[in-house]
Amino acid sequence: MNLPQPYARTEADQAVEVNLTINGTEVHLSLPARVTLSDALRDHLGLTGTHVGCEHGICGMCTVLVDGDAARACLLFAAQLDGAEITTVEGLGRQDELHPLQESFGRHHGLQCGFCTPGFLMSSYDLLTHEPGVQRDDLPAELSGVLCRCTGYRNIIDAVDDVAQTHRGTLPAPGNCGKRALVGRTAAAATGPAAISAESTFDEEPAERPQEIDLPAGDPTIHIEVTSRLDSNPTEVARVFGDIRLLARCLPGAELTDELGADWYRGRARIALGPMRMAFNGIAHIEEQSADRIVMKAQGKDAGGGALARIIMTAAAVDGGGTALQADASVFLTGRIAGFGRSLAGDVSRRMFEEFARAVDRAASGEEEPTAGTRPPGAISLLFGTIVDRVRQFLRRLASGVWRRH
Ligand code: FES
Ligand code: FES
Repeated sequence: MNLPQPYARTEADQAVEVNLTINGTEVHLSLPARVTLSDALRDHLGLTGTHVGCEHGICGMCTVLVDGDAARACLLFAAQLDGAEITTVEGLGRQDELHPLQESFGRHHGLQCGFCTPGFLMSSYDLLTHEPGVQRDDLPAELSGVLCRCTGYRNIIDAVDDVAQTHRGTLPAPGNCGKRALVGRTAAAATGPAAISAESTFDEEPAERPQEIDLPAGDPTIHIEVTSRLDSNPTEVARVFGDIRLLARCLPGAELTDELGADWYRGRARIALGPMRMAFNGIAHIEEQSADRIVMKAQGKDAGGGALARIIMTAAAVDGGGTALQADASVFLTGRIAGFGRSLAGDVSRRMFEEFARAVDRAASGEEEPTAGTRPPGAISLLFGTIVDRVRQFLRRLASGVWRRH
């Protein structure tokens, strides 16, 4: 039997270089050959709009456009798509200008839980561009490649039929495809055989600053209040508060990259938690600064999500010497990072602030000048500390009989 010769062979832990254009942005990925397109989009680029249901090509949840045609992202390896143009549901419409299909799904209530919606949107986009004259009676069969487990088909058909009738041959192209429409991840230093790095090659954001950092309305994802006791006296701490570059270097993994004027700063922050490595690029605005109080807002974005925060730090003398450094932070998380859960995200944030407070103490006492871009808070130190805290709490509860069997 003549079997086709493999044109390339890679070891399981060997990375393959892949160049793709995703929603108009050129992306360079370095990942194992076994990674599917759906996993590359979701896990390596943070584009979680593409849903994954069956991973067998049956449910259609993962439908994206590959070189203009609908395709199952779960059945394609990213490595086989070098040079391809991919359009995901994130590329279909913008927040301020939805694609007609998105508007129609909303208008006709074409979704219940919404899990199938990205698949239906991309599938119906493909249908209406390739068969603009499609008739309503044919829609159930034409769209049968996507399964809705909420069985909301009637409204979905209404939504697609509405667009088919009003946009015969005039369906707008995806409106959110263009350079920088995709949030990229700066290369996370990959270590170990299982580590994977993903890197976008588009330019950095321009160094312009917004008028204001708007925090979302409503409750933050996490709110923490932490007080750390520093050995340094308030005058020494005030010296660190007065030097924003020094202060930024006290936050492990953070780096100030640009001063934008009027107390606006651009910077990066990296954090590693188990297999998750995040590199936030963002800006911060110091709203208020004195010798013993700093009020700031910051926003950062990673391929896997974003964070917005309002942080108030105050330093006060304590009896017997030293300084109480208090942080009051309201943090709003979006995307993959929000999947941590409030409790774990809160614990990790607290521990990061404790590390920060120790660095401020060392810098204030002149014991050690933190260096810019110090390594991100390690997975082991953050998670281990968090786990130890939780075990302690658990043991305390057991000892106090709070979790008695009924
Ligand atoms: S996840 Fe790809 S078809 Fe079901
Ligand atoms: S709306 Fe829930 S799966 Fe379709």
